Amino acid sequence: MQTIFEIPFFHYKIDNWKETKKELLQEYSNSFLEKVENDKLAGGYLYTDYYNIVNTQEPPLYIRKTIDILNFYIDKFHSDFKSLDFVDKNFQRFIINCAWFQKQEENMHHIVHNHGSIGFSSVCYIDYDKEKHSSTVFLSPYGEFTTGNTTYFQPEVEEGDIIFFPSFLNHFAPLNTSEDNRVIFSFNLR
Ligand SMILES: [Fe+2]
Repeated sequence: MQTIFEIPFFHYKIDNWKETKKELLQEYSNSFLEKVENDKLAGGYLYTDYYNIVNTQEPPLYIRKTIDILNFYIDKFHSDFKSLDFVDKNFQRFIINCAWFQKQEENMHHIVHNHGSIGFSSVCYIDYDKEKHSSTVFLSPYGEFTTGNTTYFQPEVEEGDIIFFPSFLNHFAPLNTSEDNRVIFSFNLR
C-alpha cells in the first residue's frame, strides 16, 4: 500500500507565551475590527479587520508589528515545509499577502470557507480557553472511503499555539458558546 498524496499540517507552541501574548494584545488593541454578519463570500458572524485590510496597498503598522512578533514561527514553518521531500527544491519562500485579526463573542462563529487554491494559511490562538472554546475544524477534501461521509480534523490547540495548513482546505470555527471572547490572528502565505 502506498499513500499517494499528503496534506501537511504544522503546529507550534509559542515560547514565552505570557510576554508574547501581552505584545500581541497590544497590537490587537490597535486593530480596526468591524462586525461582519453573514458575508456572502466568507460567511459567519464575527468581528474582523480583514475587509479593512484586504484592499489596502500596505498593511497597517499594527499588522506588520504582529507579523514581526510571529516571525520566528513563520521561519520555522518555512524550514520544516522545505524539508518535505515532495516540495519543489527550487522553492524559496512564501510571501504574506494578507493578515488580519478575528474576534468571536458569545454565539458568533465562522462558516465553512477556505483561503484560496495556492499556498498556506495560519491561525494563531491569542485569546483562547481550551476548556471553553473550539479550535478550527478542518474538512477532508474527500469522503471516507466506505461511506463517503465527510471526515474532520480538529487539532488539539491551546492559547499560544500557531498552526499552518494548506489554504485550499475547507475549515470553520464552531459557535462560541462561552461568554469569553475568542481572538485569533490569521494570515495567508502565497
Ligand atoms: Fe479561515
